Amino acid sequence: MKIRSTILVIIFVIFSRLTIIGGEGMWIPMLLQQMNEKEMQEMGMKITAEDIYSINKSSLKDAILLFGRGCTSEIISKDGLLLTNHHCGFGNIQKHSTVEHDYLTDGFWAMNRGEELPNPGLTATLLIEMRDVTDSILTAVDENMSMKDRQSVIKANIKRVTDNFEKGSKYKASVKPFFQGNAYYMMITEVFKDIRLVGAPPSNIGKFGGDTDNWMWPRHTGDFSLFRIYVNKEGNPAEYSEDNVPYQPKFYFPISLDGVEEGDFTFVFGYPARTNEYLPSYAIEMITEVGNPDKIELRETRLDIFKKYSNKDPEVRIKYATKDARVANYWKKMIGESGGVKRMNGIEAKQKYEDEFTHWASLSGNDQYAGLMPEFKKLYGELTPIKVAAHYMMEAGMAIEIVKFASTYAKLVELSKDKTKSVDEINKEIEKLKKQNIAFFKDYYKPIDEEVMTSLLRIYDNSLTTEFKPDFFNTIHNKYNYDYKAYTQYVFAKSMFDKEGRLSSLLDNYKSKSYKKIERDPAYIMAMEMGKLFKEKFRGNMTSINNSIDSLQRIYLKAQMEMKPDNHFYPDANFTLRVTYGNVNGYSPKDAVYYKHFTTLDGIMEKEDPDIYDYVVTDRLRELYETKDYGQYADKDGSLHVGFAASNHTTGGNSGSPVLNANGELVGVNFDRCWEGTMSDLMYDPNVCRNISIDIRYFLFIVDKYAGAGYLLDEMKLVSGE
Ligand code: ARG
Ligand code: ASP
Repeated sequence: MKIRSTILVIIFVIFSRLTIIGGEGMWIPMLLQQMNEKEMQEMGMKITAEDIYSINKSSLKDAILLFGRGCTSEIISKDGLLLTNHHCGFGNIQKHSTVEHDYLTDGFWAMNRGEELPNPGLTATLLIEMRDVTDSILTAVDENMSMKDRQSVIKANIKRVTDNFEKGSKYKASVKPFFQGNAYYMMITEVFKDIRLVGAPPSNIGKFGGDTDNWMWPRHTGDFSLFRIYVNKEGNPAEYSEDNVPYQPKFYFPISLDGVEEGDFTFVFGYPARTNEYLPSYAIEMITEVGNPDKIELRETRLDIFKKYSNKDPEVRIKYATKDARVANYWKKMIGESGGVKRMNGIEAKQKYEDEFTHWASLSGNDQYAGLMPEFKKLYGELTPIKVAAHYMMEAGMAIEIVKFASTYAKLVELSKDKTKSVDEINKEIEKLKKQNIAFFKDYYKPIDEEVMTSLLRIYDNSLTTEFKPDFFNTIHNKYNYDYKAYTQYVFAKSMFDKEGRLSSLLDNYKSKSYKKIERDPAYIMAMEMGKLFKEKFRGNMTSINNSIDSLQRIYLKAQMEMKPDNHFYPDANFTLRVTYGNVNGYSPKDAVYYKHFTTLDGIMEKEDPDIYDYVVTDRLRELYETKDYGQYADKDGSLHVGFAASNHTTGGNSGSPVLNANGELVGVNFDRCWEGTMSDLMYDPNVCRNISIDIRYFLFIVDKYAGAGYLLDEMKLVSGE
């Protein structure tokens, strides 16, 4: 057992001595010294791997936190100020917003600590340490085991290892697979629970360019928001309390006033969520030529409806702001991703590589390796139709808000029918649902949902064969004669899931037989029919095919490492802390065109258009521009830099990540990628893949000069080499 992980480390160390491609790779902090330090220093880094990640002294990692469940944030002051993106804080900013106090539109600035706003449910998670536990997790795992047995042994081993750790510790532990399950690392973390909103720019700064500019460079978005971590008097994480005090971190980032220049070394330290860089061509084809186009069409339909109603009514716009941003974001990403793979001839490139692999495998004498590609082909052939049907269920059926909402009542029905459950358990569930109802109706607008339902049901019905469609389509065909609108009207007339009063009275007066009312509800019935179909037709098949694929992927990656011992392999992103590094760089998106590596306030004024929501510029910002009142935040060239592009390999989850210079000082906050490089989750192209960051001086300028919240700078450390 010992040998296995030692061999892996040796393989990695050997790789690290060899050539590197562009900025590709998301590296493991604890292996940085062995694998990347030398190269990072050759590229210009002046600090050491130990400065970045150490378990013996304070290091950069002590100032990086997973923000909520999907973004990264960094500590930038001695009193626990936490910097992340505007789009990461968006949901919380929206929760505090009303038509009277529209912090989304107007921005929000606490002018003292008393004005900072608590955000129940929001957490920030700090990594204390990571450990290689491969040997313990693979104990009693035999290469010839079935996938199912393998998984259950691994699961039990993970539980044993994390339980063991947590028993003697105030921290939490979790274990994740790396290198497609060839290695396992344990993450030891501390979770902060009192995170308060300190500041957010108005949307026409924080979301400048909106979804029009999203996933694109050149970019001029001031995509940041500021929070603060609070802890109890003992300095430990605690739920919100007035008595809590600002967190005193072991480390916080110094902020550089020097800016960046083309070619400068930078690195990004954060929480990339998911990449799939080692998929075979069959998978790439399924994703980019089948899955993405279907989902794009369904999302476009919803977005058009959101837009129609939001343009008419500012209250609806606020209600749907978060939903719209969420749907629009990956809608656009999928378009870019499919386009990018096509531009790279990605499928052909993978096929060519696979031919080479198969040739090598046949010579290797290893039958398992030689059989990989035909096996992949067979499995993806089986998976594709199931995936398509599942997409429609998620992106059409479950995109009807009342249907998805109704599905959350299934647990209450189940508890009510189960004679062994106590009244207490049922009441607890009722209380949970009551809270959820408030949140649901706060952001619900029935006319949108009705129109979404009619439109999506039509597409759903026309896109699949009968066996993959839920039963309610029979009703639509037979009773409503394919009249989707009439069926929608019937559901809305009869359902209680769009009627706040009826739903509250059901919960307030809940009796042992009340569940029958839920079971008779047409929105609930739709949800249950989909659930049934999923269980009967998809779930089993999907799980077993996916398990087989996972197992092949593990072997495939191991085989590739043997085939290409000089190649640089890194584990796919899995929502663990990673380092990625590259250079500040422009790029050429197409023939004869070159994009520079930075944007300025001048560009904001060029884009300004008072008639287009995404390009409105406030008088205050225009005034600062006209008087050129940039203070110490101006670049050497006299202009105010807003954003920059670099070749760091980032993905979703990296939003809000600190972008650091050769000294480990903060020069930017990552928030996006460029359009031509959006396929980097599947295939990275060093010529066009760029991450997009807000220039940290623009952040300081907005806080200080624009918002007049310069008092916040007193707790930060601003540095300049000049
Ligand atoms: N594209 C960036 C990222 O994936 C920014 C998203 C902000 N949301 C939006 N809909 N504009 O998250
Ligand atoms: N905008 C993304 C995020 O929210 C980052 C990316 O996908 O590049 O994490």
